Amino acid sequence: MNDDDLIALIAPDIPDSQFDSLRRAVAVRTMARDDRRRRPDGTNSHREGPRRTMKVAVLGAGGLLGRHVVEEMARRGREVLALDHAACAIEDARAVASALAGCALAVNCAAFTDVDGAESEPDRSFAINALGAENVARATAAAGAVVLHVSTDFVFGGRLDRPQDEFDLPEPLSLYARSKRAGELLVERANPRSHVVRVQGLYGRGGRNFASRLSSLLREGKRLRLDGERRVQPTSARAAARAIADIAATDRWGTWHASCRGATTWAGFATRLAARLDLSPTWEAVPSAALALRAPRPPNCLLEHRRLALCGLPPLPTWEEALEESLKERDLS
Ligand SMILES: NC(=O)c1ccc[n+]([C@@H]2O[C@H](COP(=O)([O-])OP(=O)(O)OC[C@H]3O[C@@H](n4cnc5c(N)ncnc54)[C@H](OP(=O)(O)O)[C@@H]3O)[C@@H](O)[C@H]2O)c1
Repeated sequence: MNDDDLIALIAPDIPDSQFDSLRRAVAVRTMARDDRRRRPDGTNSHREGPRRTMKVAVLGAGGLLGRHVVEEMARRGREVLALDHAACAIEDARAVASALAGCALAVNCAAFTDVDGAESEPDRSFAINALGAENVARATAAAGAVVLHVSTDFVFGGRLDRPQDEFDLPEPLSLYARSKRAGELLVERANPRSHVVRVQGLYGRGGRNFASRLSSLLREGKRLRLDGERRVQPTSARAAARAIADIAATDRWGTWHASCRGATTWAGFATRLAARLDLSPTWEAVPSAALALRAPRPPNCLLEHRRLALCGLPPLPTWEEALEESLKERDLS
Protein backbone atom coordinates (compact mmCIF):
# COMPACT_ATOMS: atom_id res chain seq x y z
CA MET A 1 0.00 0.00 0.00
CA ASN A 2 1.50 3.38 -0.92
CA ASP A 3 1.11 6.58 1.12
CA ASP A 4 -1.77 7.95 -0.96
CA ASP A 5 -3.66 4.65 -0.63
CA LEU A 6 -3.18 4.78 3.12
CA ILE A 7 -4.46 8.36 3.26
CA ALA A 8 -7.49 7.29 1.22
CA LEU A 9 -8.05 4.53 3.77
CA ILE A 10 -7.74 6.61 6.92
CA ALA A 11 -9.17 9.86 5.61
CA PRO A 12 -11.17 9.39 2.41
CA ASP A 13 -12.71 12.86 2.46
CA ILE A 14 -9.86 14.93 3.79
CA PRO A 15 -9.84 18.46 2.34
CA ASP A 16 -6.89 19.47 0.12
CA SER A 17 -5.77 21.98 2.75
CA GLN A 18 -5.03 19.14 5.21
CA PHE A 19 -3.70 16.63 2.72
CA ASP A 20 -0.05 17.68 2.94
CA SER A 21 0.18 17.47 6.73
CA LEU A 22 -1.44 14.04 6.70
CA ARG A 23 0.87 12.88 3.93
CA ARG A 24 3.86 14.02 6.03
CA ALA A 25 2.47 12.07 8.99
CA VAL A 26 1.92 8.97 6.91
CA ALA A 27 5.36 9.25 5.34
CA VAL A 28 6.90 8.98 8.80
CA ARG A 29 5.08 5.68 9.30
CA THR A 30 6.31 4.33 6.00
CA MET A 31 9.87 5.31 6.83
CA ALA A 32 9.55 3.56 10.15
CA ARG A 33 8.50 0.30 8.46
CA ASP A 34 11.34 0.56 5.94
CA ASP A 35 13.76 1.24 8.76
CA ARG A 36 12.57 -1.88 10.62
CA ARG A 37 12.84 -4.00 7.49
CA ARG A 38 16.48 -3.00 7.05
CA ARG A 39 17.48 -4.55 10.40
CA PRO A 40 18.25 -8.25 10.22
CA ASP A 41 16.95 -9.05 13.73
CA GLY A 42 13.70 -7.19 13.17
CA THR A 43 14.39 -4.85 16.07
CA ASN A 44 14.99 -1.14 15.95
CA SER A 45 16.98 0.92 18.43
CA HIS A 46 15.44 4.17 17.13
CA ARG A 47 18.46 6.10 18.24
CA GLU A 48 18.95 7.47 14.77
CA GLY A 49 17.09 8.12 11.55
CA PRO A 50 13.63 9.47 10.97
CA ARG A 51 11.95 7.90 14.01
CA ARG A 52 13.69 10.36 16.34
CA THR A 53 11.27 13.03 15.20
CA MET A 54 8.12 10.99 15.84
CA LYS A 55 5.93 12.19 18.61
CA VAL A 56 2.47 10.59 18.60
CA ALA A 57 1.81 6.95 17.76
CA VAL A 58 -1.79 5.91 17.14
CA LEU A 59 -2.47 2.17 17.45
CA GLY A 60 -5.60 0.87 15.75
CA ALA A 61 -5.18 3.69 13.22
CA GLY A 62 -7.27 1.84 10.62
CA GLY A 63 -10.35 1.80 12.88
CA LEU A 64 -13.13 4.36 13.23
CA LEU A 65 -11.71 6.29 16.17
CA GLY A 66 -8.07 5.71 15.24
CA ARG A 67 -8.53 7.37 11.85
CA HIS A 68 -10.07 10.41 13.46
CA VAL A 69 -7.34 10.63 16.11
CA VAL A 70 -4.68 10.52 13.39
CA GLU A 71 -6.43 13.34 11.55
CA GLU A 72 -6.95 15.41 14.69
CA MET A 73 -3.36 15.08 15.88
CA ALA A 74 -2.05 15.95 12.40
CA ARG A 75 -4.43 18.92 12.27
CA ARG A 76 -2.87 20.13 15.52
CA GLY A 77 0.56 19.97 13.94
CA ARG A 78 1.72 16.82 15.73
CA GLU A 79 3.90 14.31 13.95
CA VAL A 80 1.90 11.11 13.80
CA LEU A 81 2.89 7.49 13.46
CA ALA A 82 -0.32 5.82 12.24
CA LEU A 83 -0.12 2.11 13.10
CA ASP A 84 -2.94 -0.01 11.77
CA HIS A 85 -3.45 -3.66 12.72
CA ALA A 86 -1.13 -4.90 9.96
CA ALA A 87 1.63 -2.55 11.10
CA CYS A 88 1.40 -3.50 14.77
CA ALA A 89 -0.63 -6.19 16.54
CA ILE A 90 -0.81 -5.08 20.16
CA GLU A 91 -0.73 -8.59 21.64
CA ASP A 92 2.84 -8.88 20.30
CA ALA A 93 4.84 -7.21 23.07
CA ARG A 94 8.10 -7.08 21.09
CA ALA A 95 6.42 -5.56 18.05
CA VAL A 96 4.74 -2.94 20.24
CA ALA A 97 8.00 -2.06 22.01
CA SER A 98 9.77 -1.76 18.68
CA ALA A 99 7.05 0.33 17.10
CA LEU A 100 6.71 2.76 20.02
CA ALA A 101 10.35 3.41 20.82
CA GLY A 102 11.03 7.09 20.14
CA CYS A 103 7.43 8.22 20.61
CA ALA A 104 6.44 10.73 23.26
CA LEU A 105 2.80 9.61 23.33
CA ALA A 106 0.90 6.51 22.24
CA VAL A 107 -2.87 6.63 21.77
CA ASN A 108 -4.28 3.11 21.90
CA CYS A 109 -7.43 2.85 19.77
CA ALA A 110 -6.75 -0.81 18.94
CA ALA A 111 -9.24 -3.23 20.43
CA PHE A 112 -11.32 -6.32 19.84
CA THR A 113 -14.62 -4.44 19.55
CA ASP A 114 -17.11 -7.19 18.69
CA VAL A 115 -19.15 -6.96 21.91
CA ASP A 116 -21.34 -10.00 21.19
CA GLY A 117 -18.54 -12.00 19.54
CA ALA A 118 -16.38 -11.56 22.64
CA GLU A 119 -18.77 -13.79 24.59
CA SER A 120 -17.52 -16.80 22.62
CA GLU A 121 -13.91 -15.60 22.26
CA PRO A 122 -12.77 -14.80 25.80
CA ASP A 123 -9.10 -15.54 25.20
CA ARG A 124 -8.90 -13.29 22.16
CA SER A 125 -10.78 -10.59 23.98
CA PHE A 126 -8.47 -10.57 27.00
CA ALA A 127 -5.33 -11.04 24.85
CA ILE A 128 -6.08 -7.85 22.92
CA ASN A 129 -8.15 -5.65 25.23
CA ALA A 130 -6.31 -6.44 28.45
CA LEU A 131 -2.81 -7.81 27.81
CA GLY A 132 -2.44 -5.95 24.50
CA ALA A 133 -3.29 -2.70 26.24
CA GLU A 134 -0.76 -3.56 28.94
CA ASN A 135 1.89 -4.09 26.23
CA VAL A 136 1.28 -0.56 24.99
CA ALA A 137 1.51 0.84 28.52
CA ARG A 138 4.69 -1.10 29.30
CA ALA A 139 6.35 -0.03 26.05
CA THR A 140 5.54 3.62 26.64
CA ALA A 141 6.74 3.42 30.25
CA ALA A 142 10.02 1.92 29.08
CA ALA A 143 10.38 4.70 26.51
CA GLY A 144 9.55 7.41 29.08
CA ALA A 145 6.40 8.20 27.11
CA VAL A 146 2.77 8.84 27.96
CA VAL A 147 -0.03 6.40 27.08
CA LEU A 148 -3.62 7.34 26.38
CA HIS A 149 -5.77 4.23 26.38
CA VAL A 150 -9.33 4.26 25.02
CA SER A 151 -11.98 2.43 27.02
CA THR A 152 -15.73 2.20 27.20
CA ASP A 153 -18.94 3.12 29.06
CA PHE A 154 -19.64 -0.63 29.14
CA VAL A 155 -17.33 -0.99 32.16
CA PHE A 156 -20.32 0.21 34.21
CA GLY A 157 -23.30 -1.84 35.32
CA GLY A 158 -25.60 1.05 34.45
CA ARG A 159 -27.91 0.52 37.40
CA LEU A 160 -27.68 4.07 38.78
CA ASP A 161 -30.44 6.53 37.97
CA ARG A 162 -27.90 9.22 37.09
CA PRO A 163 -24.93 9.51 34.72
CA GLN A 164 -21.85 7.67 35.98
CA ASP A 165 -18.75 9.72 36.66
CA GLU A 166 -15.08 8.79 36.74
CA PHE A 167 -15.28 8.15 40.48
CA ASP A 168 -18.12 5.62 40.29
CA LEU A 169 -17.15 1.99 40.63
CA PRO A 170 -17.14 -0.10 37.43
CA GLU A 171 -19.22 -3.25 37.32
CA PRO A 172 -18.66 -4.85 33.90
CA LEU A 173 -21.54 -7.06 32.75
CA SER A 174 -20.17 -8.70 29.60
CA LEU A 175 -16.99 -10.44 28.62
CA TYR A 176 -16.02 -7.53 26.37
CA ALA A 177 -16.60 -5.15 29.28
CA ARG A 178 -14.53 -7.30 31.66
CA SER A 179 -11.66 -7.39 29.20
CA LYS A 180 -11.82 -3.60 28.72
CA ARG A 181 -11.90 -3.04 32.49
CA ALA A 182 -8.90 -5.34 32.88
CA GLY A 183 -7.14 -3.25 30.23
CA GLU A 184 -7.82 -0.06 32.20
CA LEU A 185 -6.33 -1.52 35.38
CA LEU A 186 -3.29 -3.00 33.66
CA VAL A 187 -2.54 0.24 31.80
CA GLU A 188 -2.69 2.31 34.96
CA ARG A 189 -0.44 -0.13 36.77
CA ALA A 190 2.12 -0.40 33.96
CA ASN A 191 2.53 3.31 33.26
CA PRO A 192 1.81 5.94 35.92
CA ARG A 193 1.84 8.56 33.16
CA SER A 194 -1.38 7.24 31.67
CA HIS A 195 -4.81 8.45 30.67
CA VAL A 196 -7.79 6.11 30.36
CA VAL A 197 -10.48 7.75 28.23
CA ARG A 198 -13.94 6.18 28.18
CA VAL A 199 -15.95 6.91 25.04
CA GLN A 200 -19.30 5.54 23.91
CA GLY A 201 -21.72 5.11 21.04
CA LEU A 202 -19.19 6.11 18.36
CA TYR A 203 -20.22 6.84 14.81
CA GLY A 204 -18.53 8.51 11.88
CA ARG A 205 -17.15 8.32 8.39
CA GLY A 206 -16.14 4.82 7.38
CA GLY A 207 -17.28 3.21 10.63
CA ARG A 208 -18.36 -0.41 10.26
CA ASN A 209 -20.70 -0.26 13.23
CA PHE A 210 -24.47 0.03 13.25
CA ALA A 211 -24.56 3.72 14.28
CA SER A 212 -22.24 4.76 11.44
CA ARG A 213 -24.44 2.91 8.92
CA LEU A 214 -27.76 4.06 10.32
CA SER A 215 -28.31 6.83 7.78
CA SER A 216 -27.79 4.49 4.83
CA LEU A 217 -30.07 1.88 6.43
CA LEU A 218 -32.76 4.54 6.89
CA ARG A 219 -32.33 5.74 3.30
CA GLU A 220 -32.70 2.19 2.02
CA GLY A 221 -36.02 2.06 3.87
CA LYS A 222 -34.94 -1.04 5.81
CA ARG A 223 -37.38 -1.95 8.56
CA LEU A 224 -35.32 -1.74 11.73
CA ARG A 225 -35.92 -2.59 15.34
CA LEU A 226 -34.11 -0.08 17.50
CA ASP A 227 -33.56 0.07 21.24
CA GLY A 228 -35.96 2.61 22.66
CA GLU A 229 -34.95 1.99 26.26
CA ARG A 230 -31.20 2.00 26.88
CA ARG A 231 -29.95 5.52 27.69
CA VAL A 232 -27.03 6.48 25.45
CA GLN A 233 -24.91 9.42 24.37
CA PRO A 234 -24.18 8.91 20.65
CA THR A 235 -20.76 10.43 20.08
CA SER A 236 -19.16 11.39 16.79
CA ALA A 237 -15.65 10.03 16.35
CA ARG A 238 -14.69 13.62 15.45
CA ALA A 239 -15.79 14.97 18.82
CA ALA A 240 -14.17 12.07 20.69
CA ALA A 241 -10.89 12.60 18.82
CA ARG A 242 -10.84 16.29 19.74
CA ALA A 243 -11.38 15.43 23.42
CA ILE A 244 -8.64 12.80 23.24
CA ALA A 245 -6.21 15.36 21.82
CA ASP A 246 -7.15 17.83 24.59
CA ILE A 247 -6.69 15.21 27.31
CA ALA A 248 -3.39 14.02 25.82
CA ALA A 249 -2.05 17.55 26.21
CA THR A 250 -2.46 17.52 30.02
CA ASP A 251 -0.48 15.80 32.74
CA ARG A 252 -3.51 15.18 34.95
CA TRP A 253 -3.24 11.41 34.76
CA GLY A 254 -6.12 9.02 35.34
CA THR A 255 -9.60 8.27 34.03
CA TRP A 256 -11.68 10.58 31.87
CA HIS A 257 -15.15 10.39 30.38
CA ALA A 258 -15.39 11.73 26.82
CA SER A 259 -18.84 11.19 25.32
CA CYS A 260 -21.24 13.73 23.89
CA ARG A 261 -23.47 15.49 26.40
CA GLY A 262 -27.18 14.90 26.85
CA ALA A 263 -29.13 11.68 26.67
CA THR A 264 -31.23 9.75 24.18
CA THR A 265 -31.84 6.21 22.99
CA TRP A 266 -30.80 4.70 19.65
CA ALA A 267 -34.43 5.05 18.56
CA GLY A 268 -34.27 8.73 19.59
CA PHE A 269 -31.06 9.18 17.60
CA ALA A 270 -32.73 7.58 14.55
CA THR A 271 -35.76 9.86 14.93
CA ARG A 272 -33.54 12.95 14.89
CA LEU A 273 -31.44 11.68 12.01
CA ALA A 274 -34.45 10.73 9.90
CA ALA A 275 -36.03 14.15 10.51
CA ARG A 276 -32.83 15.90 9.40
CA LEU A 277 -32.63 13.71 6.27
CA ASP A 278 -36.32 14.23 5.57
CA LEU A 279 -37.04 10.49 5.69
CA SER A 280 -40.14 8.76 6.96
CA PRO A 281 -39.74 6.49 9.97
CA THR A 282 -38.99 2.88 9.05
CA TRP A 283 -38.14 1.56 12.49
CA GLU A 284 -39.81 0.23 15.54
CA ALA A 285 -38.64 1.27 19.00
CA VAL A 286 -38.43 -1.81 21.20
CA PRO A 287 -37.30 -2.56 24.78
CA SER A 288 -33.66 -3.63 25.12
CA ALA A 289 -34.63 -7.20 25.99
CA ALA A 290 -36.57 -7.61 22.73
CA LEU A 291 -33.33 -7.37 20.76
CA ALA A 292 -32.00 -10.47 22.55
CA LEU A 293 -28.39 -9.41 22.11
CA ARG A 294 -25.87 -12.01 23.15
CA ALA A 295 -23.85 -9.80 25.51
CA PRO A 296 -25.62 -7.86 28.25
CA ARG A 297 -25.39 -4.06 28.00
CA PRO A 298 -25.76 -1.53 30.82
CA PRO A 299 -29.32 -0.13 30.78
CA ASN A 300 -27.93 3.32 31.56
CA CYS A 301 -24.82 4.18 29.55
CA LEU A 302 -24.81 7.86 30.42
CA LEU A 303 -21.46 9.29 31.45
CA GLU A 304 -20.87 12.35 33.60
CA HIS A 305 -17.81 14.32 32.44
CA ARG A 306 -16.65 15.40 35.86
CA ARG A 307 -12.91 15.40 35.23
CA LEU A 308 -13.13 17.48 32.04
CA ALA A 309 -15.05 20.08 34.04
CA LEU A 310 -12.81 19.92 37.13
CA CYS A 311 -9.62 20.19 35.07
CA GLY A 312 -10.97 23.03 32.90
CA LEU A 313 -10.90 21.13 29.60
CA PRO A 314 -13.48 21.93 26.90
CA PRO A 315 -16.75 19.97 27.15
CA LEU A 316 -17.82 17.81 24.24
CA PRO A 317 -20.80 19.04 22.20
CA THR A 318 -24.28 17.73 22.90
CA TRP A 319 -25.20 14.65 20.85
CA GLU A 320 -27.53 16.83 18.75
CA GLU A 321 -24.73 19.35 18.01
CA ALA A 322 -22.31 16.55 17.10
CA LEU A 323 -24.90 15.04 14.77
CA GLU A 324 -25.35 18.40 13.04
CA GLU A 325 -21.59 18.70 12.55
CA SER A 326 -21.39 15.16 11.20
CA LEU A 327 -24.17 15.85 8.68
CA LYS A 328 -22.48 19.09 7.63
CA GLU A 329 -19.14 17.32 7.18
CA ARG A 330 -20.88 14.48 5.31
CA ASP A 331 -19.61 11.90 7.78
CA LEU A 332 -22.90 10.02 7.57
CA SER A 333 -23.44 8.97 4.01
N1 LIG B 1 -17.41 2.06 18.59
C1 LIG B 1 -17.97 2.35 19.76
O1 LIG B 1 -19.17 2.65 19.82
C2 LIG B 1 -17.16 2.33 21.02
C3 LIG B 1 -17.82 2.55 22.24
C4 LIG B 1 -17.09 2.55 23.42
C5 LIG B 1 -15.70 2.35 23.38
N2 LIG B 1 -15.09 2.13 22.19
C6 LIG B 1 -13.64 1.91 22.22
O2 LIG B 1 -13.05 2.81 21.30
C7 LIG B 1 -11.86 2.23 20.77
C8 LIG B 1 -11.87 2.33 19.25
O3 LIG B 1 -12.99 1.62 18.75
P1 LIG B 1 -13.52 1.82 17.27
O4 LIG B 1 -14.94 2.17 17.36
O5 LIG B 1 -12.61 2.70 16.49
O6 LIG B 1 -13.42 0.32 16.77
P2 LIG B 1 -12.94 -0.28 15.36
O7 LIG B 1 -13.41 0.57 14.25
O8 LIG B 1 -13.33 -1.70 15.43
O9 LIG B 1 -11.36 -0.14 15.45
C9 LIG B 1 -10.56 -0.99 16.21
C10 LIG B 1 -9.29 -1.21 15.43
O10 LIG B 1 -8.42 -2.05 16.19
C11 LIG B 1 -7.80 -2.93 15.29
N3 LIG B 1 -7.35 -4.12 15.99
C12 LIG B 1 -8.08 -5.20 16.35
N4 LIG B 1 -7.29 -6.08 16.96
C13 LIG B 1 -6.05 -5.55 16.98
C14 LIG B 1 -4.82 -5.99 17.47
N5 LIG B 1 -4.69 -7.17 18.08
N6 LIG B 1 -3.72 -5.20 17.33
C15 LIG B 1 -3.84 -4.02 16.71
N7 LIG B 1 -4.98 -3.54 16.20
C16 LIG B 1 -6.07 -4.31 16.36
C17 LIG B 1 -8.84 -3.25 14.25
O11 LIG B 1 -8.22 -3.67 13.07
P3 LIG B 1 -8.88 -4.86 12.20
O12 LIG B 1 -10.29 -4.44 11.95
O13 LIG B 1 -8.03 -4.89 10.98
O14 LIG B 1 -8.78 -6.09 13.05
C18 LIG B 1 -9.53 -1.88 14.08
O15 LIG B 1 -8.92 -1.14 13.06
C19 LIG B 1 -11.81 0.81 21.32
O16 LIG B 1 -10.98 0.80 22.45
C20 LIG B 1 -13.23 0.53 21.75
O17 LIG B 1 -13.28 -0.41 22.80
C21 LIG B 1 -15.78 2.12 21.02
